Amino acid sequence: MTVYMIGAGPGDPDLITVKAVKLLKKADVILYDSLANDELLSYAPDDVELIYVGKRAGEHYRKQPEINELLIEQGKKYENVVRLKGGDPFIFGRGGEEELALLAEGINVEFVPGINSAIGAATMMGLPLTHRAVSTSLTLVTGHEDPEKSEKQVNWDYTADTLVVFMGVGLLKKYVPKLLEYRSPDTPVCAIENGTLPNQKIIMGTLADITEKEIKPPALIIIGDVVNVYKECLELRSKFE
Ligand SMILES: C[S@@+](CC[C@H](N)C(=O)[O-])C[C@H]1O[C@@H](n2cnc3c(N)ncnc32)[C@H](O)[C@@H]1O
Repeated sequence: MTVYMIGAGPGDPDLITVKAVKLLKKADVILYDSLANDELLSYAPDDVELIYVGKRAGEHYRKQPEINELLIEQGKKYENVVRLKGGDPFIFGRGGEEELALLAEGINVEFVPGINSAIGAATMMGLPLTHRAVSTSLTLVTGHEDPEKSEKQVNWDYTADTLVVFMGVGLLKKYVPKLLEYRSPDTPVCAIENGTLPNQKIIMGTLADITEKEIKPPALIIIGDVVNVYKECLELRSKFE
Protein backbone atom coordinates (compact mmCIF):
# COMPACT_ATOMS: atom_id res chain seq x y z
CA MET A 1 0.00 0.00 0.00
CA THR A 2 2.56 2.51 -1.18
CA VAL A 3 2.33 4.74 -4.20
CA TYR A 4 5.76 5.49 -5.65
CA MET A 5 5.63 8.73 -7.56
CA ILE A 6 8.44 8.45 -10.04
CA GLY A 7 9.98 10.95 -12.44
CA ALA A 8 10.54 9.26 -15.80
CA GLY A 9 12.97 11.92 -17.00
CA PRO A 10 12.77 14.12 -20.09
CA GLY A 11 12.11 11.48 -22.76
CA ASP A 12 15.26 9.48 -23.54
CA PRO A 13 14.59 6.23 -21.65
CA ASP A 14 18.23 6.05 -20.54
CA LEU A 15 17.72 9.19 -18.48
CA ILE A 16 15.77 7.46 -15.70
CA THR A 17 17.29 6.82 -12.27
CA VAL A 18 18.47 3.43 -11.01
CA LYS A 19 16.08 3.81 -8.08
CA ALA A 20 13.14 4.27 -10.46
CA VAL A 21 14.07 1.13 -12.42
CA LYS A 22 14.25 -0.90 -9.18
CA LEU A 23 10.71 0.19 -8.30
CA LEU A 24 9.34 -0.41 -11.83
CA LYS A 25 10.66 -3.98 -11.57
CA LYS A 26 8.43 -4.72 -8.59
CA ALA A 27 5.35 -2.73 -9.62
CA ASP A 28 1.90 -4.35 -9.34
CA VAL A 29 0.32 -1.54 -11.33
CA ILE A 30 1.71 1.46 -13.23
CA LEU A 31 -0.30 4.61 -13.94
CA TYR A 32 1.64 6.47 -16.60
CA ASP A 33 1.53 9.76 -18.49
CA SER A 34 1.94 10.49 -22.19
CA LEU A 35 5.34 12.14 -21.62
CA ALA A 36 6.78 9.12 -19.78
CA ASN A 37 8.57 7.03 -22.41
CA ASP A 38 6.66 3.77 -23.09
CA GLU A 39 9.95 1.87 -23.30
CA LEU A 40 10.27 2.23 -19.52
CA LEU A 41 7.23 -0.02 -19.06
CA SER A 42 9.31 -2.98 -20.23
CA TYR A 43 11.13 -2.96 -16.86
CA ALA A 44 7.88 -4.01 -15.16
CA PRO A 45 6.94 -7.64 -14.39
CA ASP A 46 4.96 -9.48 -17.14
CA ASP A 47 1.76 -9.51 -15.08
CA VAL A 48 1.81 -5.80 -14.25
CA GLU A 49 -1.41 -3.86 -14.74
CA LEU A 50 -0.87 -0.80 -16.97
CA ILE A 51 -3.15 2.22 -16.80
CA TYR A 52 -2.64 5.12 -19.22
CA VAL A 53 -3.68 8.42 -17.67
CA GLY A 54 -2.06 10.72 -20.23
CA LYS A 55 -2.94 14.31 -20.79
CA ARG A 56 -1.67 16.25 -23.81
CA ALA A 57 -2.25 19.75 -25.09
CA GLY A 58 -5.84 19.79 -26.35
CA GLU A 59 -6.42 16.13 -25.46
CA HIS A 60 -7.57 15.58 -21.90
CA TYR A 61 -7.74 11.86 -21.64
CA ARG A 62 -8.52 11.94 -17.93
CA LYS A 63 -9.16 14.93 -15.70
CA GLN A 64 -6.99 15.41 -12.60
CA PRO A 65 -9.71 14.51 -10.02
CA GLU A 66 -10.30 11.28 -11.94
CA ILE A 67 -6.57 10.47 -11.83
CA ASN A 68 -6.54 11.17 -8.09
CA GLU A 69 -9.47 8.78 -7.59
CA LEU A 70 -7.79 6.08 -9.67
CA LEU A 71 -4.58 6.44 -7.65
CA ILE A 72 -6.50 6.13 -4.40
CA GLU A 73 -8.33 3.06 -5.72
CA GLN A 74 -5.09 1.38 -6.84
CA GLY A 75 -3.31 2.43 -3.64
CA LYS A 76 -5.93 0.59 -1.61
CA LYS A 77 -5.81 -2.47 -3.85
CA TYR A 78 -2.08 -3.08 -4.43
CA GLU A 79 1.14 -3.21 -2.43
CA ASN A 80 3.36 -1.44 -5.00
CA VAL A 81 1.71 1.22 -7.12
CA VAL A 82 3.91 3.21 -9.50
CA ARG A 83 2.80 6.62 -10.69
CA LEU A 84 5.14 7.37 -13.60
CA LYS A 85 5.35 10.98 -14.69
CA GLY A 86 7.34 12.76 -17.40
CA GLY A 87 10.33 14.77 -16.16
CA ASP A 88 10.13 15.40 -12.43
CA PRO A 89 6.81 14.87 -10.61
CA PHE A 90 6.93 18.26 -8.89
CA ILE A 91 7.80 20.54 -11.80
CA PHE A 92 4.49 21.28 -13.53
CA GLY A 93 3.62 17.66 -12.91
CA ARG A 94 0.69 18.08 -10.48
CA GLY A 95 2.55 15.70 -8.18
CA GLY A 96 1.64 17.81 -5.15
CA GLU A 97 -2.08 17.47 -5.85
CA GLU A 98 -1.79 13.70 -6.10
CA GLU A 99 0.33 13.61 -2.93
CA LEU A 100 -2.33 15.55 -1.00
CA ALA A 101 -5.16 13.37 -2.33
CA LEU A 102 -3.36 10.15 -1.37
CA LEU A 103 -2.29 11.34 2.08
CA ALA A 104 -5.85 12.51 2.81
CA GLU A 105 -6.93 8.89 2.29
CA GLY A 106 -4.13 7.58 4.55
CA ILE A 107 -2.18 6.10 1.62
CA ASN A 108 1.60 6.22 1.88
CA VAL A 109 3.35 7.96 -0.99
CA GLU A 110 7.08 8.08 -1.72
CA PHE A 111 8.98 10.00 -4.37
CA VAL A 112 11.76 9.42 -6.85
CA PRO A 113 13.00 12.57 -8.56
CA GLY A 114 13.32 12.61 -12.32
CA ILE A 115 15.42 14.78 -14.61
CA ASN A 116 13.22 17.73 -15.45
CA SER A 117 12.73 18.20 -19.20
CA ALA A 118 14.18 21.73 -19.31
CA ILE A 119 17.32 20.77 -17.43
CA GLY A 120 17.63 17.46 -19.30
CA ALA A 121 17.00 18.73 -22.81
CA ALA A 122 19.15 21.85 -22.45
CA THR A 123 22.06 19.98 -20.89
CA MET A 124 21.93 17.15 -23.40
CA MET A 125 22.19 19.55 -26.33
CA GLY A 126 24.94 21.59 -24.65
CA LEU A 127 22.91 24.71 -23.82
CA PRO A 128 23.89 26.03 -20.38
CA LEU A 129 20.83 27.50 -18.64
CA THR A 130 23.11 29.55 -16.40
CA HIS A 131 26.48 30.87 -17.55
CA ARG A 132 29.01 33.02 -15.74
CA ALA A 133 28.63 36.69 -16.69
CA VAL A 134 25.62 35.91 -18.90
CA SER A 135 22.94 34.39 -16.70
CA THR A 136 22.92 34.09 -12.93
CA SER A 137 19.25 33.22 -12.53
CA LEU A 138 16.64 30.93 -14.01
CA THR A 139 12.84 30.98 -13.92
CA LEU A 140 10.68 28.04 -14.96
CA VAL A 141 7.20 29.24 -15.84
CA THR A 142 4.04 27.79 -17.35
CA GLY A 143 2.77 29.31 -20.57
CA HIS A 144 -0.63 27.83 -19.91
CA GLU A 145 -1.78 29.04 -16.53
CA ASP A 146 -4.91 27.26 -15.32
CA PRO A 147 -7.73 29.20 -17.05
CA GLU A 148 -10.03 28.44 -14.10
CA LYS A 149 -7.86 30.39 -11.63
CA SER A 150 -9.64 33.46 -10.32
CA GLU A 151 -6.42 35.54 -10.19
CA LYS A 152 -3.53 35.35 -12.64
CA GLN A 153 -0.14 34.53 -11.09
CA VAL A 154 1.90 34.76 -14.30
CA ASN A 155 2.59 38.37 -15.27
CA TRP A 156 5.71 37.91 -17.43
CA ASP A 157 7.68 40.59 -15.58
CA TYR A 158 10.25 38.06 -14.32
CA THR A 159 13.69 39.45 -13.65
CA ALA A 160 15.60 36.16 -14.04
CA ASP A 161 18.21 36.20 -16.82
CA THR A 162 16.98 32.92 -18.31
CA LEU A 163 13.31 32.03 -18.65
CA VAL A 164 12.06 28.59 -19.62
CA VAL A 165 8.41 28.36 -20.60
CA PHE A 166 6.68 25.00 -20.21
CA MET A 167 3.43 24.25 -22.08
CA GLY A 168 4.21 27.44 -23.93
CA VAL A 169 3.31 26.71 -27.56
CA GLY A 170 -0.48 27.24 -27.70
CA LEU A 171 -0.46 30.69 -26.10
CA LEU A 172 2.89 31.93 -27.49
CA LYS A 173 1.18 34.80 -29.35
CA LYS A 174 -0.50 35.88 -26.10
CA TYR A 175 2.50 36.00 -23.78
CA VAL A 176 5.32 37.10 -26.14
CA PRO A 177 3.84 40.65 -26.45
CA LYS A 178 3.78 40.78 -22.64
CA LEU A 179 7.41 39.66 -22.45
CA LEU A 180 8.30 42.38 -24.97
CA GLU A 181 7.17 44.96 -22.41
CA TYR A 182 10.14 43.90 -20.26
CA ARG A 183 12.72 42.42 -22.68
CA SER A 184 14.35 43.57 -25.91
CA PRO A 185 12.97 42.22 -29.22
CA ASP A 186 16.53 40.98 -29.94
CA THR A 187 16.43 38.64 -26.93
CA PRO A 188 17.41 35.23 -28.31
CA VAL A 189 14.93 32.35 -28.06
CA CYS A 190 15.40 28.64 -28.58
CA ALA A 191 12.45 26.24 -28.76
CA ILE A 192 13.11 22.55 -28.19
CA GLU A 193 10.51 20.10 -29.46
CA ASN A 194 10.68 16.51 -28.17
CA GLY A 195 13.86 17.19 -26.23
CA THR A 196 16.31 14.27 -25.76
CA LEU A 197 14.30 12.08 -28.17
CA PRO A 198 15.34 10.95 -31.68
CA ASN A 199 12.74 13.35 -33.18
CA GLN A 200 14.10 16.35 -31.22
CA LYS A 201 13.83 19.60 -33.17
CA ILE A 202 15.51 22.90 -32.32
CA ILE A 203 14.00 26.16 -33.53
CA MET A 204 15.99 29.36 -33.10
CA GLY A 205 14.63 32.88 -33.12
CA THR A 206 14.25 36.08 -31.13
CA LEU A 207 11.39 37.54 -29.16
CA ALA A 208 10.62 39.61 -32.26
CA ASP A 209 10.08 36.66 -34.59
CA ILE A 210 9.45 33.53 -32.49
CA THR A 211 5.67 33.72 -32.94
CA GLU A 212 6.13 33.35 -36.71
CA LYS A 213 7.98 30.03 -36.36
CA GLU A 214 6.30 26.67 -36.53
CA ILE A 215 6.66 25.02 -33.12
CA LYS A 216 4.83 21.88 -32.10
CA PRO A 217 4.24 20.58 -28.57
CA PRO A 218 5.68 19.17 -26.44
CA ALA A 219 8.20 21.98 -26.49
CA LEU A 220 10.24 24.13 -24.15
CA ILE A 221 10.81 27.78 -24.95
CA ILE A 222 14.16 29.04 -23.66
CA ILE A 223 14.52 32.80 -23.56
CA GLY A 224 17.67 34.75 -22.74
CA ASP A 225 21.30 35.39 -23.65
CA VAL A 226 22.32 31.83 -22.78
CA VAL A 227 20.90 30.96 -26.20
CA ASN A 228 23.77 33.00 -27.70
CA VAL A 229 26.23 30.87 -25.74
CA TYR A 230 24.64 27.82 -27.35
CA LYS A 231 24.97 29.44 -30.79
CA GLU A 232 28.67 30.09 -30.09
CA CYS A 233 29.10 26.42 -29.16
CA LEU A 234 27.38 25.36 -32.39
CA GLU A 235 29.80 27.51 -34.39
CA LEU A 236 32.80 25.99 -32.62
CA ARG A 237 31.41 22.49 -33.21
CA SER A 238 30.88 23.17 -36.90
CA LYS A 239 34.63 23.73 -37.24
CA PHE A 240 35.57 20.21 -36.23
CA GLU A 241 32.49 18.18 -37.19
C1 LIG B 1 2.81 18.93 -17.79
S1 LIG B 1 4.40 19.54 -18.11
C2 LIG B 1 5.38 18.29 -17.40
C3 LIG B 1 6.78 18.73 -17.05
C4 LIG B 1 7.58 17.63 -16.39
N1 LIG B 1 7.04 17.30 -15.09
C5 LIG B 1 9.04 17.99 -16.25
O1 LIG B 1 9.59 17.99 -15.14
O2 LIG B 1 9.68 18.21 -17.29
C6 LIG B 1 4.50 19.22 -19.83
C7 LIG B 1 5.41 20.21 -20.54
O3 LIG B 1 6.77 19.90 -20.26
C8 LIG B 1 7.56 20.17 -21.40
N2 LIG B 1 8.20 18.93 -21.84
C9 LIG B 1 8.19 17.76 -21.21
N3 LIG B 1 8.95 16.86 -21.85
C10 LIG B 1 9.46 17.49 -22.93
C11 LIG B 1 10.33 17.12 -23.97
N4 LIG B 1 10.86 15.90 -24.05
N5 LIG B 1 10.64 18.04 -24.91
C12 LIG B 1 10.14 19.28 -24.84
N6 LIG B 1 9.31 19.70 -23.88
C13 LIG B 1 8.98 18.83 -22.92
C14 LIG B 1 6.64 20.77 -22.45
O4 LIG B 1 6.63 22.17 -22.28
C15 LIG B 1 5.31 20.17 -22.05
O5 LIG B 1 4.24 20.93 -22.54
